[in-house]
Amino acid sequence: MRVIFLSLGVAIGLLTVPAARAASPEPIYVDQGPNWTAAARADFYSRDQGSRMIALTWLQALKQPNGQPFLADSLARYGYLPNPANSNGLPVGFTASGPTGTQIAGMTCSACHTRQITAEGKTYRIDGGPAIVDFQGFLTDLDTAVGQVLASDAAFNPFATAVLGAAADANDVTALRQDVNAWYLRFHTLITRALPTSGWGTARLDAVGMIFNRLTGLDLGPPPSYLIAENIKKADAPVRYPFIWNAPIQDKTQWPGFADNGGDILGLARNLGEVYGVFGVFEPKSDGLVVNFLNNNSANFDGLDKLENLVKQIDPPKWPWLFDSNLAAQGKAIFNRSTADGGCQECHRIRPGQVRFPLVQTWATPVQNVGTDTREYDILGWSVQTGVLQGSFIPFVTNPLQANDLAFNILATSVIGTIAEQAVLGNGASTLKAVVAGAQIQTAPGAPQFKFVQLPPQLRDLQGAFHAPTAQPPAPLNLNVQGTPVPKPLITAAPPATGSYEARVMEGIWAAAPYLHNGSVPTLAELLKPPAARVKQFKIGPAYDTVNVGLAVDQLPSSYTYVTTDCSQLNSGNSNCGHTFGTTLSDQEKSALLEYLKTL
Ligand code: HEC
Ligand code: HEC
Repeated sequence: MRVIFLSLGVAIGLLTVPAARAASPEPIYVDQGPNWTAAARADFYSRDQGSRMIALTWLQALKQPNGQPFLADSLARYGYLPNPANSNGLPVGFTASGPTGTQIAGMTCSACHTRQITAEGKTYRIDGGPAIVDFQGFLTDLDTAVGQVLASDAAFNPFATAVLGAAADANDVTALRQDVNAWYLRFHTLITRALPTSGWGTARLDAVGMIFNRLTGLDLGPPPSYLIAENIKKADAPVRYPFIWNAPIQDKTQWPGFADNGGDILGLARNLGEVYGVFGVFEPKSDGLVVNFLNNNSANFDGLDKLENLVKQIDPPKWPWLFDSNLAAQGKAIFNRSTADGGCQECHRIRPGQVRFPLVQTWATPVQNVGTDTREYDILGWSVQTGVLQGSFIPFVTNPLQANDLAFNILATSVIGTIAEQAVLGNGASTLKAVVAGAQIQTAPGAPQFKFVQLPPQLRDLQGAFHAPTAQPPAPLNLNVQGTPVPKPLITAAPPATGSYEARVMEGIWAAAPYLHNGSVPTLAELLKPPAARVKQFKIGPAYDTVNVGLAVDQLPSSYTYVTTDCSQLNSGNSNCGHTFGTTLSDQEKSALLEYLKTL
């Protein structure tokens, strides 16, 4: 019965909503190298990473305010891309995991790291490119839809019938209602406290803020809800989704460049932090001595590993239109000039970076302050209650967490602790007690003898997985475990200075608009103008401008309009200030440089 209802819903959606989809059902897949096969793409679109958002049957039973099924257009109304291979009507990057009937819907990399653009009447798919989606709109509407169902029996009963079938008895319905209530308490608390009224708009998300909120607000409190509502703060520093081709070989990642990168273990640390933010379940448990990070942990280690390997196969997209090779050759010479002469290579060329375990030669990714918006650094400075993780630390790597600590430090402890436990304790092969609830050790009579063991060599790069972006890390607690001093953390590398962001290589940059970490500049041509001369507001959507290289001025009327601020409000999150390189080049030099950037 439910299946018929669902497929009908999808059919209605196809008829009524996405005109763009109907116009070009099959996009042109831009050339992304020989390894990027149809099979790899299909895997990338649907591979589970351990994200557990909401029960699939609930999602399928929910309605939009207009009475249509919530999934009616496969979420195309938020910009998500159709995935015909998904039998549940879920779009690209949405997963359903677990046994049939009790599957949980979640998200994976491609929901946020794949885009589609249109130019000259054609549609192009770019895998690994920044998604052009309204994630905040999706989260808000999902919250509203569930709230609607819970508002009355009249609303709940048809929902319960859709989820449980017509034969369900009153006890089943009551139990379902309890489950939905429990889910809603947590989700609604997150949504109402975390989402900014101004909205992230399209193509942007405050991922770091949401990871902190999800991790510290929903997982570290006391059962049954595990909530620490006060830990959830406004995630109001949205950034443009990064492109992720080449990301696995950079020596630093994340816009503020706080994460060492390059080896497999660092990739895992990055992805694990991400899955905790995208509705992974964490819920660590402490018995007063040892923290169990794998207690109720939904991270799919195998899935995360496979996804990272898929990302490694995505080459930068090749410009699919004609270009002027003579002009591009002139542009290359300009790119290779010194910075003072309007060149770019000092920060953006491909060159060797740090070596990561075991002997991975990375590309250098300089992290610099070039005068762009500073708001993301406010998020990195959040301080919150540590809840069940108070006192825990990774021997030789992190300081014991204080009662209140940086959300950043909690993320570092959680990710490194999880990996250490999975790798070392998971197979029971070592005496390593990766993490100890230090604060309680002194008072516990007869506490067992702990032996602090260094992370094994293959995990040691984790010491650089998170460089705390504050000048003064919290002082270590002076604790003893039966005479054993707490090992001194080894994280020594200098944190990035406020306002610094990563300068990445420019391969495939043509496909990543709008530009800068906060997406405040719509085209490469605009980026080559001085900040005061850049457009103050623009629409964000898939329509592409192949001349100015970036977002077209004309988008669908319903598209989101991004209103920027100028250099006087550098901390607004929306400032288009900074990055003045190349702005004094002549018009001819600028068009040559643009032509070259198309070819990368
Ligand atoms: C809900 C959306 C979302 C999902 C799902 C997601 N990411 Fe991201 N990702 C982001 C955002 C936003 C950032 C930028 C965070 C920042 O630095 O502020 C990011 C950053 C990154 C970076 C760093 C890029 C850089 O600029 O240095 C990599 C690499 C990456 N993600 C890969 C992945 C992989 C692999 C997965 C799946 C295992 C994944 N992401 C899942 C949104 C997402
Ligand atoms: C001194 C170092 C430096 C030089 C020189 C430099 N850049 Fe950058 N570039 C950066 C940094 C740092 C960022 C990240 C800033 C941010 O996102 O806020 C950046 C960001 C960018 C971006 C945005 C990337 C994205 O994913 O949105 C583009 C495009 C870019 N630079 C192009 C150029 C061009 C073209 C030149 C030469 C005319 C140039 N840069 C010269 C440091 C530099």
